[in-house]
Amino acid sequence: MIADVVVDLQYGDCGKGKIAHALCRERDYTHVIRYNGGCNAGHTIYHNGVKFVTHHIPCGVFFGIKSIIGPGCVIHVDTFLEEIDKLEKAGIPASKLVHVATNAHLITDFHRLEDGKDEIIGTTKKGNGPAYRDKYGRRGVRALEDPRLQNYLINMYHELFENEEEEEIEILFEGAQGFGLDPDWGDYPYVTSSHCTVGSAILNGVPPKCIRDVWGVAKIYETYVGAKDFEGPDEIFEEIRELGQEYGATTGRPRQINWLDFDMLKMASRINGVNKMVINKMDILEEVNAWCLYDGPNLYEFKKRSDIEFWITGKLEMEVNKEIEIMFSGDKEYI
Ligand code: IMP
Ligand code: MG
Repeated sequence: MIADVVVDLQYGDCGKGKIAHALCRERDYTHVIRYNGGCNAGHTIYHNGVKFVTHHIPCGVFFGIKSIIGPGCVIHVDTFLEEIDKLEKAGIPASKLVHVATNAHLITDFHRLEDGKDEIIGTTKKGNGPAYRDKYGRRGVRALEDPRLQNYLINMYHELFENEEEEEIEILFEGAQGFGLDPDWGDYPYVTSSHCTVGSAILNGVPPKCIRDVWGVAKIYETYVGAKDFEGPDEIFEEIRELGQEYGATTGRPRQINWLDFDMLKMASRINGVNKMVINKMDILEEVNAWCLYDGPNLYEFKKRSDIEFWITGKLEMEVNKEIEIMFSGDKEYI
């Protein structure tokens, strides 16, 4: 068994969906597994030029790969079934390919109602926090208890370890949210309720020694949606928001914008053991022609794209991993 992991190094919305989609096209994965979060996630994917937004369903469905909502996830059944339906109508055979781990937990309508009242964190109001609270409080409801999911259920242990046909299992773990929203490493309490690091993927039943590549995904500027003040004072952020279409894929909320925080990028890369990194949205800063980042409290301004690329690459090679492979991307569908 071997597994690659896609993790977000900032606050979500860095383009994990795009990277996972591109990796599925290039590699021979047998499984794509979503390992954390629920329908608070919104993955924007361009498949053959057509835009799709998925919440629960992993991107393996676009390539005929078995796609699993893992035990680390929480699932809202109505949303899930609607998503299957939407994909089927677009010609993607999702109902055959998608499976839900028996031990994933349900987001109930009551969880949604409760989360809907949040005024402190600025949650997506999708019931995520209350569902995880009940899971760890030992009064949650698991996927295997919902009759509507019976055709989708999969026993993760059997699938990974007692399936003779699947000796050569190759997994892509598709993460949700991001390092800055992790309950332990993020800016608590302005975080989500499931872990957003490689450690979280491991919890879905795959031994640590099986991990091959860790793909860290970031943007050349940062965005955050939620209740805390995040946006910098620079007027250019308004322009970046419009050009970059920085509005939540799940809630439509405008994302707050700031320059890249190199310290956090470094910390997230170290903790996740990132060996491949993609820094997205280069095209947007190219359009506004401004290249800045924070290194600690200092704001650095660069003259051109190649200067900032050189600086980031040099620092990451020196301080994180000599062998790290870094790609700077400005394309919606390809890396
Ligand atoms: P929750 O996950 O809905 O409880 O929201 C907690 C925090 O995480 C809020 O600031 C949300 O905006 C943020 N969040 C949750 N999911 C995502 C995501 O997929 N992308 C970006 N932010 C997210
Ligand atoms: Mg998103």
